[in-house]
Amino acid sequence: MESPLGARMRINGRDVDYFCGTSYFCLHGHPKVIEAACAATRRYGMGPGTLAHVEVYSELQEKLRNWFNVEQVVSLISGYSSPMAMLQGLRDDFDIVIIDAAIHYSGKDATPTLGKPVHSFRHLDPDHLSEVLAGEVKPGQRPVVVTDGVFPSSGALAPLQEYRRHLDKYHGSLLAIDDSHGMGAIGSTGRGSLQYFGLENDGNFLAGTLSKAFGALGGIIPGDEALSKKIMANAMIMRGASPIPPGSAAAAIAAMEVLENNPGMRERLVENVAHMRCGLRKLGFAVAENPVPIVTVQGDVDFHKLRAQLEQRDIIVKVTKAFGYSDAPDVPTLRLAVFSEHTSEQINRLLSSIAEFL
Ligand SMILES: Cc1ncc(COP(=O)(O)O)c(C=O)c1O
Repeated sequence: MESPLGARMRINGRDVDYFCGTSYFCLHGHPKVIEAACAATRRYGMGPGTLAHVEVYSELQEKLRNWFNVEQVVSLISGYSSPMAMLQGLRDDFDIVIIDAAIHYSGKDATPTLGKPVHSFRHLDPDHLSEVLAGEVKPGQRPVVVTDGVFPSSGALAPLQEYRRHLDKYHGSLLAIDDSHGMGAIGSTGRGSLQYFGLENDGNFLAGTLSKAFGALGGIIPGDEALSKKIMANAMIMRGASPIPPGSAAAAIAAMEVLENNPGMRERLVENVAHMRCGLRKLGFAVAENPVPIVTVQGDVDFHKLRAQLEQRDIIVKVTKAFGYSDAPDVPTLRLAVFSEHTSEQINRLLSSIAEFL
């Protein structure tokens, strides 16, 4: 990459249409976000060099509290660490951990730190979850189910309502999701997968990141005062790791302001996702009907060749290798990231080029 990120950007010396990654509103490359990061860096430097407080962290806290409509949002150095901090915070509230077999590496890495038995259920399979719960949860035990809300490589949405229905049979059960790709991108006001499914209730928790829809970098865990206290008490990363750079906090604040002041961006993302999904269906691919801006296709196509042909036209797409990521299936897939900033001409050009090369 040789320019700020964008739907049209410079890569390897060429101006290209870009359909990769996770910056669903292209906020990492937005002039206001870049300027806010620069201004905060000039004012505060790269960071406090210890766990000291910097005013911009309070401003970020307030912005995030309003965005998620919660009492507190724990902020930490990376999205990768946020499921760990969330689960460590909750560790006295569950006795057994049940994970989707294809959760992101961040959740998988977190589970051994919890000191609890861990079992897995088949990827995206509520019936198997029900069997595992019935087989593994002993009387009186409180299970926590851990899953990605939106899976990063396939874009699959976890069937959270069905998981919750099965969990409701177990007193004190928890649902804890890594919603790195849902936050900002889906839900009626951009609060993510729990909002999308109407599950913002007690017992359901989410952790995520500023590094995707929110155009910055850093982990976040929205919740109530009690959750925040538990995380501060139990998750040693909160004592032993540096906070996010002030420039990143300022970038996230500016990014959320851009989204708030331009509601059309969220509307355009919805329209662009529908455009892409419908266009791919017309080409004969089985594509789910949902608002997730990660659209993947599989099939009897040489996707590596297709990717190279598209690149010749300055259209950059990603092919995930078989088993090439936490949730990648056993065959290569074409992963298309849809942005609010793609024009319909860009999406049409991609679709017609795919049609031509198939
Ligand atoms: C599902 C999921 N969780 C966590 C992360 C890590 O987030 P970050 O890059 O902000 O540390 C990623 C990163 O790509 C992800 O896809």
